[in-house]
Amino acid sequence: MTRRIILDCDPGHDDAVAIMFALGSPDIELAAITTVGGNQTIDKVTRNARGILALCGREEVPVYRGAERPLLRQVETAPSIHGETGLDGVELPIPTVAERPQRAAQAIVEIVRESEPGSITLVGTGPLTNLALAVRLEPAIVSRVREVVIMGGGIYEGNWTAAAEFNIWVDPEAARIVFDEPWRVTMVGLDVTHRALATSDVVDQAARINTPTGKFFVDLMRFFRVSNREAFGFADPPVHDPCTIAYLVDPAVVVTKAAPVAVETRGELTAGATVVDLRAPAPANCNTRVATQLDRERFWELVLDAIARL
Ligand code: BDR
Ligand code: CA
Repeated sequence: MTRRIILDCDPGHDDAVAIMFALGSPDIELAAITTVGGNQTIDKVTRNARGILALCGREEVPVYRGAERPLLRQVETAPSIHGETGLDGVELPIPTVAERPQRAAQAIVEIVRESEPGSITLVGTGPLTNLALAVRLEPAIVSRVREVVIMGGGIYEGNWTAAAEFNIWVDPEAARIVFDEPWRVTMVGLDVTHRALATSDVVDQAARINTPTGKFFVDLMRFFRVSNREAFGFADPPVHDPCTIAYLVDPAVVVTKAAPVAVETRGELTAGATVVDLRAPAPANCNTRVATQLDRERFWELVLDAIARL
């Protein structure tokens, strides 16, 4: 069954791969892209999203600009990982279609309201500011959304701090709002995304696709490999965000488990940590799930097949 999604993102090298993966997957219908300040400023990530759609020849997908800053905290970007543009190392065409006039949170509310109940999945691959604003703007979306799937957090791992993953760390208050609502939230965190490594074998396969989008992937990974090696010591870069799309395309590729998740907003050393309670089987009414395993080979097969289709 086709999954209709809104992709809320901050492109970003791995967000760009998630966008291409969604566009090239027959089982995914991309209803809209909403942008959020994260990897770079809202101006830059919004332009990047539009440029990616132009590259893929898919500018009919509407783009809505979202929050320029977290709910309470100051803007924090990630130039050490994504460069000054948010997508350093690649050339994108100049977009020809303007972003839509509504803001992301308004658009999310309207699209969910106008769609069949239970048909829209919200996918978040940046800080969760827009999703939190949308649910505060219209709480009725909680019962109408099929599922919220996010790349963020980790059961045992952090990256931006020892305890916290970047997307949650940037806006922990927003993340807390999203996790505390009674909709189904699936957290695809670092425990799994740190296994989605773009090895040289993966990049060679992408190069053989020999299309503009295949080349775009290769260029993305060239920069991402160096930045992830310098910042975190990875030999091959972890391509986090498309793991959310893989979970939707084939849940066997990203194994999940029901478990309560709480977001730490006040810890002196642990702000932005996702606290996952795995002490016992989750209670029957537990609405949160966490990803625990990735079938890496199948993951890359799905991603590269999708890129080849564009
Ligand atoms: C997350 O942070 C961003 O830099 C990436 O795009 C990804 O969404 C990984 O921690
Ligand atoms: Ca991202």
